[in-house]
Amino acid sequence: MTHLFSRFRIRALGVAARLLPAPTPFMLTGPGSSIQLARLIADCGARSVLVVTDKVLVELKVVAPVLNALTEAGLTVTVFSEVEPDPTIAIVMVGIEQLRTSEATAVLAVGGGSPIDAAKAMIACYASGRRPQDLDGYFKVRARVLPFFAVPTTAGSGSEVTVASVVSDPGAGRKFAIVDNKLVPAAIALDPKLMVGLPPQVTAATGMDALTHAIESNLSTLATPATRALSVAAARAIFRDLPQACEDGRDIAARQSLAVASCLAGLAFTRASVGYVHAIAHQLGPLYHLPHGYLNAILFPYVLDFYVDGAALRMAELARACGLGPGGQDPREDPRSLALRLIAAIRDLNASVGIPKIIEQIADADVPEIVQRALAEAHGTYPVPTYMSAADCTRVVRRAADRA
Ligand SMILES: NC(=O)c1ccc[n+]([C@@H]2O[C@H](COP(=O)([O-])OP(=O)(O)OC[C@H]3O[C@@H](n4cnc5c(N)ncnc54)[C@H](O)[C@@H]3O)[C@@H](O)[C@H]2O)c1
Ligand SMILES: [Fe+2]
Repeated sequence: MTHLFSRFRIRALGVAARLLPAPTPFMLTGPGSSIQLARLIADCGARSVLVVTDKVLVELKVVAPVLNALTEAGLTVTVFSEVEPDPTIAIVMVGIEQLRTSEATAVLAVGGGSPIDAAKAMIACYASGRRPQDLDGYFKVRARVLPFFAVPTTAGSGSEVTVASVVSDPGAGRKFAIVDNKLVPAAIALDPKLMVGLPPQVTAATGMDALTHAIESNLSTLATPATRALSVAAARAIFRDLPQACEDGRDIAARQSLAVASCLAGLAFTRASVGYVHAIAHQLGPLYHLPHGYLNAILFPYVLDFYVDGAALRMAELARACGLGPGGQDPREDPRSLALRLIAAIRDLNASVGIPKIIEQIADADVPEIVQRALAEAHGTYPVPTYMSAADCTRVVRRAADRA
């Protein structure tokens, strides 16, 4: 795809986004808000609810209080806890069968991006009678979906407010996205109490995923003043509070701040989209079985290094908005040095939360295909501030693998 055609397609996506704006769910926030959401689901008139979650959350008893609240509110509850990180087509198909047999009249996802995305794909496929891979792409969910609710237990994916469900196709070694306004939940709860047991490494990786959403959406050519305001608020909170949440997972204030930040970043990127960091990470995840946020975190500074030449002004504005730099910035500081401050702040944050500098699993022989697939995903889909050639992308991937 030529860059001219990519730009034309992005412009068309921008028009579509303006004509079909993404809905925003009703949001409950704060400790105990997941219990309030359970009551709200009953008040909405649902009789039975399918809770989509994963085994870890069941074992850690993170879901138990929500299940109790649903039962106490008079709902019949069925639990589907087979979801694994990076949910596959096969898992979604099992979930659809469970949805059919449970005869649920509402669906509640309790979990990180994986259970929320699995639940979204399930309701989309169940309503339309199609398989997940048939819905790959934009606005293909033509039937009405069941009432859908979500309680995120990580502060990362932002999936609780986005129009997307990301599904893995291990056979093809890829991830694809079902993108439709109907996938946004009706109501959500951002309950920091459910996040206190999230291990530091997962807190770090998911928090860096959220920061990637904030910064990639801020640099997007589809960003608006409104999405930029949300993404700046998200980025500032993550720079400030992620180290503390990794240090002391029981710090409710830090957890609450990150839950809100990840949700704000989700609101920004579901409107302004992401960029090359995600395009490259999506190729590496299925290949090396590494977490999405972890890959984003490591790739992030290398992609931003590439942006400096073409998008320094925008990066400088973002650095200024984030208040980066010791003792505030000199107003005369040139954009390039401010852009470099932004990158340095991300490298410092990665180091402070224990994320390594390189992805040592990347094999030289895999690089050409990673590059080809990443560019095929990005071009015409992601409103990147400046375009990469195959040689540019190869350089970024090789640097992230410490081979440059
Ligand atoms: N739909 C979207 O808009 C969107 C955006 C970004 C990422 N994603 C997708 O989201 C998925 C990643 O989601 P994620 O990063 O939130 O992680 P995840 O849902 O895959 O969870 C990661 C691990 O953390 C555990 N965990 C989750 N919450 C916990 C808690 N409170 N306490 C203890 N352990 C907990 C899970 O059991 C799992 O083992 C990927 O598949 C990615 O592609 C989707
Ligand atoms: Fe992401």
